[in-house]
Amino acid sequence: MVRRMYAPAKGPVMTTTQTGAAAARSLQARYGPWALVAGASDGVGAEFARQAAAAGINCILVARRLQLLDQLARELKAQHGVEVITRSVDLTQPDAAARMLGSAAGLDVGLFVYNAGSGPFRNEVFWTLRSPTGGPCCA
Ligand SMILES: NC(=O)c1ccc[n+]([C@@H]2O[C@H](COP(=O)([O-])OP(=O)(O)OC[C@H]3O[C@@H](n4cnc5c(N)ncnc54)[C@H](OP(=O)(O)O)[C@@H]3O)[C@@H](O)[C@H]2O)c1
Repeated sequence: MVRRMYAPAKGPVMTTTQTGAAAARSLQARYGPWALVAGASDGVGAEFARQAAAAGINCILVARRLQLLDQLARELKAQHGVEVITRSVDLTQPDAAARMLGSAAGLDVGLFVYNAGSGPFRNEVFWTLRSPTGGPCCA
């Protein structure tokens, strides 16, 4: 089963009527080659990363527990052949946005999943990553 994922103001990007390769093409076409998932070590964030990787989207995984991020990175690389970058970042710290953006430097990040709370850095990272060709989606 394919779960629904929503992009603000643009409607659903993947629906239950799309399956397998079609859904993957839809996600990749919309978001491009890289996703940044904050709060990716567990729960909903880890699942977002799994679905992005299953669509062939490379992932930057951010949370505090690096061991869990590295474990997930190994899983995503082995199962989907994507590139994965892990970075331990505490989103309550003042340098959180700089550290997240640093891990994404030079990469075409079209999807930003801000899963770990609603800190003050979301907009800074969102607008910095935003590209003129599409821009990321906050989830
Ligand atoms: N699960 C649900 O059914 C559900 C439903 C509706 C809404 N939500 C919301 O979705 C969000 C995620 O839920 P969840 O169930 O996936 O929670 P979770 O299992 O506790 O995962 C939270 C993620 O955020 C990271 N995180 C927490 N504090 C952080 C910090 N200071 N800096 C960096 N990363 C931090 C955690 O990683 P580290 O501990 O490694 O840092 C973990 O990867 C929550 O806001 C929740 O309210 C969840």
